[in-house]
Amino acid sequence: MDKTIAARTAPLVGEYFPQGDKSLSHRALLFASLAEGTSVIRRFLVGGVTRAMLRCLRQLGVNWTLDEDAHVLTVEGRGLHGFTAPEEPLNCGNSATTLRLLAGAVAAAGVPCVLTGSEGLCRRPMGRIVEPLRAMGADVSAAEGDRAPLAFRPAALHPIAYSLPVASAQVKSCLLLAALAADGPTALTEPGPSRDHTERMLAAMGAAIKPLDPPAYGAVALPLTAPLRPLDLELPGDISSAAFLIVAATLVPGSDFTLRRIGVNPTRTGILDALRAMGADITLLDETTLAGEPVADIRVRYAPLVATTVSGDLVVRMIDEFPAFMIAAACARGVTAVRDAAELRTKESDRIAGMAANLCAVGVEIHEQPDGFDIFGGAIPGGATVDAHGDHRVAMSLALAALVAKRPITIAGFDILAESFPDFPTVLGL
Ligand code: S3P
Repeated sequence: MDKTIAARTAPLVGEYFPQGDKSLSHRALLFASLAEGTSVIRRFLVGGVTRAMLRCLRQLGVNWTLDEDAHVLTVEGRGLHGFTAPEEPLNCGNSATTLRLLAGAVAAAGVPCVLTGSEGLCRRPMGRIVEPLRAMGADVSAAEGDRAPLAFRPAALHPIAYSLPVASAQVKSCLLLAALAADGPTALTEPGPSRDHTERMLAAMGAAIKPLDPPAYGAVALPLTAPLRPLDLELPGDISSAAFLIVAATLVPGSDFTLRRIGVNPTRTGILDALRAMGADITLLDETTLAGEPVADIRVRYAPLVATTVSGDLVVRMIDEFPAFMIAAACARGVTAVRDAAELRTKESDRIAGMAANLCAVGVEIHEQPDGFDIFGGAIPGGATVDAHGDHRVAMSLALAALVAKRPITIAGFDILAESFPDFPTVLGL
């Protein structure tokens, strides 16, 4: 679907209560399936990516009921080894989180199955899970180039000490899940602070997940000695979806907008740090804890931006927010430089190349680097057709560009945004 969007004249005002966090929705659903007993998960994200996980778990014999209007999910856990062998391959759609986390879970469960997905997902790198899973003893074969489909056969798992080459919560979570069924402690080290939701949630369910000693990024997981306890919780709102509205309110003059009960886990708040460094007016209110995660209301007021630089750990802490951040950079005074961000090329699309082509098309000067980019900010001329490249976050960031551009922008493939933030067009009146 193509969508043409013209500049927004009205400020963003009032407040909004976004859906539950995508990463936490995936984890709550999957871990509840591995628990024994009935879990109740409130503020569950109902979107394309979580529907993929729901479908796959149904095929593995998990009973769940979803109240789509109330966003309440009930899951009957089957225990760590309770999955039944599916008759058909499990189609993870566009969701790498579904595929990579399920890979760890089916290896632990010892259930034969094939994990596959959309063409886009089957182009994404899976060697990063296949290699360490094999080192643990998993019997997994991959398509050429270590891509999905991945075929699993039951095998006994052993502990490993493993250093992840890139900071990745998906890889870490996959291996932590497999480690629950290994016959000893597994130690994972990573080069940066990837999101730690898995560690927090599994520990809250009774698993022995510990920090590394001496302290480093990563975690240690011990084999499960008692069943995981079921969940009864409300999930925090998704900061990665909120980020689009935070950028919109920062860029549209006169805005004063509050996002309610958003997850502000420090491994996810890099976007707030980066925007504040550019001069954004962002305040956290009513900070508290929900489901073992820090949450807060986020109040954003319009502010003119100046350029910044982003590299190192900050990249990891805002890894999903670069498409939105690039629009902020395009509007900021000066040259914004991002480095150490080669991971952006392995997401739902190559977000460096794709966003560079799109920004160029709407008249913004951007110089691509192998591991980042330089954006020469000021204003967005617009007046062009751009492409979402099958990537929900690219689609939404292009809508942000259109909201502040001098001339309307047409976005091809706009509806892909429903993967993670189906309410986005309604909130912004698009
Ligand atoms: C996710 C981790 C990130 C992120 C993705 C969700 C997760 O991927 O990009 O949207 O829920 O674990 P990596 O861990 O591969 O960086």
